Amino acid sequence: MSASPASESNATPARRNTVRDFARMKSVGQPITMVTAYDAAMAKLADHAGIDSILVGDSYGNVSLGYDSTIPVTLDDMVRATAAVVRGSTRPFVIADMPFMTYQTSRRDALHNAARLMQEGRAQAVKLEGGMRSQETIAAIVEADIPVMGHVGFTPQSLHAFGGYRVQGKGADQKRVIQDAKAVEEAGAFSVVLELVPSELSEIVTYELDIPTIGIGAGPHCSGQVQVLHDILGIDPDFAPKHAKQYANLAETVTEALGRYASEVRGGQFPED
Ligand code: KIV
Repeated sequence: MSASPASESNATPARRNTVRDFARMKSVGQPITMVTAYDAAMAKLADHAGIDSILVGDSYGNVSLGYDSTIPVTLDDMVRATAAVVRGSTRPFVIADMPFMTYQTSRRDALHNAARLMQEGRAQAVKLEGGMRSQETIAAIVEADIPVMGHVGFTPQSLHAFGGYRVQGKGADQKRVIQDAKAVEEAGAFSVVLELVPSELSEIVTYELDIPTIGIGAGPHCSGQVQVLHDILGIDPDFAPKHAKQYANLAETVTEALGRYASEVRGGQFPED
C-alpha cells in the first residue's frame, strides 16, 4: 500500500495562532507581530517569516486596488482576499476587515457580513472601526461567537469626517480615545488597533486595558504592531507613510528585474533554445 504524503512526514502539522495566543502574548509581555496581506503569495511569505497574525485590511483598496481610500472596498473584495490569505498561510491568525457600511447599517447586516468573512473567507476573526459608537455591534458579533478586533484613534473609513489623515487623541481629545478603547474591550473584543495616536496615549490605553493593543503610528508601548505590508516592503515608489519603516525597497528591485527581463526579450537573450 502506498503511503499518503501525510503519513510520510513526521513533522507536526502547523497550528494556527488563536485568540488565546494573543492573550498569552500580552500576559507574558511578548510583542505581537502583525502585517497586512491580501493574497496567497504574500501570506505565504509572512507565514515563512514567522509573523504571528495577518490582517486582511481594507487598505487592500489603497494598496492593491488603486483606490484613494478604503471607502470603495466591498465585502466581496474582502471575502476573496481573505480566502486567498487563508489558503496561502498555515500558522498566522487571520483577521478580516469589515469594509465601509457593512456593519453600520444594522445589527442584522453586521452579523450577516461578519458571517460571510468567516464562512466564505475562512477568517478566524473580524475587525471593525469605531469605539463607543460600535460597542453594541461588536457585542452582537461577539455574542455570535465571532472574535472581534476593534479599531480606534484614526479610523480610515472616517477619513472624510476627520477631514484627512490626522493624529487623534491629542490634548483634551485623549479622553475620547481612552473611552473608545474601553468601550471596545467592554463589548468583548479580543484586541484593539490604535492608529495614529500619541505614544503616551497608547501607553495609557495598553496599561488600562486587559486585551492586547496593536499599534500603527502609535509608538512603541502597544502589545503589538501592525504595518501595511506594501509600506514596509517599499512597494509603492510614490508613497511612504511617516510611521512606517522600509525594510526593503521592492519598487527598485522589481523594476530593475522587470527591466532586465524586457531588455533580454527584446535583445533575443531570453528565452534560450
Ligand atoms: O486596513 C488596514 O490595513 C488597517 C490597518 C491600518 C490597521 O486597518
